[in-house]
Amino acid sequence: MSAAAQKPLLEVHDLRVRLRSHRGAVEALRGLDFSLARGETLGLIGESGCGKSLTALALMGLLPEGAQVSGSMRFEGRELVGLPERDWCALRGDRVAMVFQEPMTALNPLHPIGRQIAEPLRLHRGLGRSEARAEALRLLERVQLPQAARRLDAYPHQLSGGQRQRVVIAIALACRPDLLIADEPTTALDVTVQREVLALIAELVAEDGMALLLISHDLGVMAQQVRRLLVMYGGQGVEGGPTAEVFRRMSHPYTRGLFAARPRLGLPRGTRLATIPGRVPELADLGAGCAFAERCAWAEAACRSTMPAPTEVGPDHVARCLRLDAVATGLQPRADAGGNHGG
Ligand SMILES: Nc1ncnc2c1ncn2[C@@H]1O[C@H](COP(=O)(O)OP(=O)(O)OP(=O)(O)O)[C@@H](O)[C@H]1O
Ligand code: SF4
Ligand SMILES: [Mg+2]
Repeated sequence: MSAAAQKPLLEVHDLRVRLRSHRGAVEALRGLDFSLARGETLGLIGESGCGKSLTALALMGLLPEGAQVSGSMRFEGRELVGLPERDWCALRGDRVAMVFQEPMTALNPLHPIGRQIAEPLRLHRGLGRSEARAEALRLLERVQLPQAARRLDAYPHQLSGGQRQRVVIAIALACRPDLLIADEPTTALDVTVQREVLALIAELVAEDGMALLLISHDLGVMAQQVRRLLVMYGGQGVEGGPTAEVFRRMSHPYTRGLFAARPRLGLPRGTRLATIPGRVPELADLGAGCAFAERCAWAEAACRSTMPAPTEVGPDHVARCLRLDAVATGLQPRADAGGNHGG
């Protein structure tokens, strides 16, 4: 294999995003690091507000107005931080494509779906009108939309939620991107349809050799769909590595908390599910130390003043915690630990 083929498709290093909030400027991504090779699948997981969608938007050049980005995002070696808007336009939809949570945000309600798939084909791949229509049909068949030929001229509101998401996936695939980003692509769908759409994404990604960045709240989805996992909290990656290793070791207290809080099948109706005690802190309240300190049962004084550095806990597996050894013993944390259990 040549050196170029071994190079990651995407390398994100010390990515920081500052946003304006009602409490002044806040840092919403705080030094994110990860890489993704061609054909690799990476999952971002974490509670609401930890920065998953902002990471996706940063990679698409679609951050909110006034966002300040620093650090590095290299795509095939090319730096994306500071890229002019016209270059982002060329990259989006062509090399990097995104599937959002709610398909209606990605579709134009006023245009037939066939036209919405054909447009990027004409724009990015230079196809003529009838060629683009034929290719749109092929794509709809590829995403297994029932009666695809009849539906080319249908409008989004004439389709079910699951069918609309298949159309969005067809648009994303139209220009054969190298990287597909899917941000909670099935949360708006019912459970059976969720499974079908995730299976479809996995199949298409494997067939085309695309890299996949999948965002989900659901540990079960991650276990099945991605080879590597990055657990996010407070705008940082707190634990990352091969999915099986992250599940096996769960080196970071936050990963353990997510796992303990996962919904379980087979519990009697109405059983209260465990949650991680406390709340996700507001960005403006994050201090110099570990973002998880207020909720962590292992926290001690140093955790509030010292930012934990990424530490290797196994092959290709890192976690950011000052007390990795204590957590790894599996012993119950001290009763007088600094975590806030008031919930
Ligand atoms: N346009 C914005 N202006 C100011 N703050 C924002 C903006 N968008 C997001 N944020 C803040 O940035 C943080 C990360 O948001 P983000 O949307 O990335 O979370 P998320 O992990 O995707 O959560 P969810 O699981 O709810 O989708 C949150 O604290 C959020 O309030
Ligand atoms: S032990 Fe300290 S550093 Fe580790 S997660 Fe808890 S608060 Fe953060
Ligand atoms: Mg989100």
